[in-house]
Amino acid sequence: MLHRLFLRIELVKTFRAGQIYLKKKIGKDEIRIFPKIHSIRPLPGRVEYVFTVPLGMNPADIEKKRWLFENKYGMAIELERNNKKFVLNVYDRKQSSNYRYDFAQISEAFGNKRVPILAGVNGRGELVTYDMTEHPHLLISGETGSGKSTQLRAILTALIQAKTADELQLYLCDLKQSELFLFKRVGAVKGDIITDPGDLYEVLKRLQAEMRRRGKLLADNELHHIAEYNEKIGGQKEPYIVLVIDEVSMIKDEADSMAIIDEIAAIGRALGVYLVLSMQRADREVISGRLKNNLVVRMAFRASDRINSNIALGSKEAADIKVTEKGRFYLKLEATECLQGVLLESDRAKKLLEPFKTSQLIEDNAPVRKQPEQQELPIFNVLEDEDNETAR
Ligand SMILES: Nc1ncnc2c1ncn2[C@@H]1O[C@H](COP(=O)(O)OP(=O)(O)O)[C@@H](O)[C@H]1O
Ligand SMILES: [Mg+2]
Repeated sequence: MLHRLFLRIELVKTFRAGQIYLKKKIGKDEIRIFPKIHSIRPLPGRVEYVFTVPLGMNPADIEKKRWLFENKYGMAIELERNNKKFVLNVYDRKQSSNYRYDFAQISEAFGNKRVPILAGVNGRGELVTYDMTEHPHLLISGETGSGKSTQLRAILTALIQAKTADELQLYLCDLKQSELFLFKRVGAVKGDIITDPGDLYEVLKRLQAEMRRRGKLLADNELHHIAEYNEKIGGQKEPYIVLVIDEVSMIKDEADSMAIIDEIAAIGRALGVYLVLSMQRADREVISGRLKNNLVVRMAFRASDRINSNIALGSKEAADIKVTEKGRFYLKLEATECLQGVLLESDRAKKLLEPFKTSQLIEDNAPVRKQPEQQELPIFNVLEDEDNETAR
């Protein structure tokens, strides 16, 4: 009982803080009329609040102030409106932040997605995933220490565990040389981890050639999407290609590279070539408006202020994420949703990746591999196969 009273007081405080009340004059006094709280029910893993707005208050105003409840109760809330009645569910935060990377569950959530992306855990403790072939290019933004690299690690590890090297090719660029070494020699990862802007440019040129080849392939077969090609044409399938660049700002002055990145963002979708870019601030100094528009999926981790949140997400919520809320972000897909990234520590990722490593690749560029043609260009072997001749 006392607990419920406490919850009631806290909810009224929230109403007051957000000025969710009507003012009414009675004689000389002014009183405040708050929404009427009908019930407060502590349930397993959540608390349910039911309230109605007083006559004369626009219920839409409460929906607009959803952020208020998120500030108060954290991201794990659900606010449903039925006419004047609201049901607010506040989920136990521990539930979602305690989620451990568990590939069996992730795999189930992936279903038969072609390029499955692990986003995070929602307020109900459910895994949220999506398919890159439907929602192509991804922009991950956030302040230093907000969780971008950790998110990349979980996304990449899950992708590698879910797909074979025939289905998926990854190109990883880590100019800070700090995060992506973990993925060295993983079968799906083409070549070495790219740490030099010059090497990145070479990779981009090859990807550009590959896009031309695929474009022609689709045109010749009168198809619109590489997924269609893979499903209709028997035999050799075209792997999906994902280029990941951690901290894109480090190449912002490389105009030639940025131009190809721009091109991938513009036409890669149908060709099965996708981008995952991470950056602290998604402002014009780093990427063009056109490029940003083509990065249709956003994961916005903590932003320093509302302006930066707006730039990253198109709305201000990412600025409300607290410094202590590591791994918390807003996913903008069809709607915008607050999620907690799945924490996968480096050490655990390392163990999970072990079975996917091609141990024969020796550092000094003398790869011992099964197929002889791969020896010539160990970094780009798959792009250099015989099909490529048609693109030139
Ligand atoms: N999803 C998460 N859950 C819990 N803690 C996290 C999560 N993501 C990041 N962290 C913590 O925050 C720290 C910084 O994260 P990091 O990914 O390196 O940030 P960034 O790349 O944005 O600078 C990590 O070392 C980890 O301790
Ligand atoms: Mg980082």
